[in-house]
Amino acid sequence: MVGYCGLKASTANGLSVLNLIYRFTPEVWGRGYATEAATAAIAWGTAHQPSTPVLARVRPDNVSSQNVALKVGLLRDHGMDDEGEDGQDLAYTNRPRTEWVQLELPTDIALPTSPALPAGVSLASIAELGDTEQLRRRVYELNKECAADIPGRGEFFSYDEYIQRRFAADGYQPDGIILALDGAALVGLCVISHVPGREWAFIEMTGDRRSHRRRGLATALKISAIRQARGWGVSTVRTIHHRGNNPIITANRMLGFLDTSFTLNLDTPPSGVTGPSIKP
Ligand SMILES: CC(C)(COP(=O)(O)OP(=O)(O)OC[C@H]1O[C@@H](n2cnc3c(N)ncnc32)[C@H](O)[C@@H]1OP(=O)(O)O)[C@@H](O)C(=O)NCCC(=O)NCCS
Repeated sequence: MVGYCGLKASTANGLSVLNLIYRFTPEVWGRGYATEAATAAIAWGTAHQPSTPVLARVRPDNVSSQNVALKVGLLRDHGMDDEGEDGQDLAYTNRPRTEWVQLELPTDIALPTSPALPAGVSLASIAELGDTEQLRRRVYELNKECAADIPGRGEFFSYDEYIQRRFAADGYQPDGIILALDGAALVGLCVISHVPGREWAFIEMTGDRRSHRRRGLATALKISAIRQARGWGVSTVRTIHHRGNNPIITANRMLGFLDTSFTLNLDTPPSGVTGPSIKP
């Protein structure tokens, strides 16, 4: 036997929960067994006890176990943190929360090492490439293409609307639009805005072409954008995503983003272009 996984009915913070337990011997780590088994356990819990949330408790230093919790769709749930046998455990649950996930990262934390870029791909900001009409059009086309894959994203902006929101907004920073180029082709972007005087910067959009996904490119783009924000002297980077956008939420959590709460005007749904919808 190399491990086990399952759900145990229990209570936490006065709430009935299904405690998700997974333990595997180190020799088989990295093969995805825990993720596969935990996915099956959660599916069973959701089918048989839909109103009882699944809770995983993980030691703060057990990063691979925290990643398993995120990969199976559990979210960091500060309200359910509890004292474990040897110190504070971090809680991950699938408790229903609001439609939007608001995330924040202090800029002074140690960022993970940036993944190696796919062969032939390089990063450069609009400040470096030159803010030309032609480049703006290419950024628009790429943003539109990527935004089509955002869950719940409706029709995308016209080019003129986009220019108003992205390039004419107070927070526009030419060094805050980081582009990924594969040869001459634009394949990815991360847009971080900063209204001078605010202590926070805002990641408005991250996306890459389908051909370039799952190779660490979005992570590399975000790390570059966060470094940029450090240069502006802000203390935190914020972002917001639709709860259904698991890929980007997971990518952010892997970088260290934690749940937070800030004032929003959700008349303009934050998907694709969000800066103008954020109130100071
Ligand atoms: C979300 C998006 C930017 C991710 O880009 P990417 O280059 O594939 O991301 P990375 O390779 O850096 O992935 C980092 C981690 O995020 C998570 N992740 C990324 N895509 C995922 C997916 N489809 N499903 C589950 N997890 C995913 C994984 O944990 C991944 O690490 P791993 O590959 O080692 O498991 C890309 O899918 C995209 O452009 N989507 C459409 C636009 C969008 O939704 N943008 C966010 C809203 S602004």
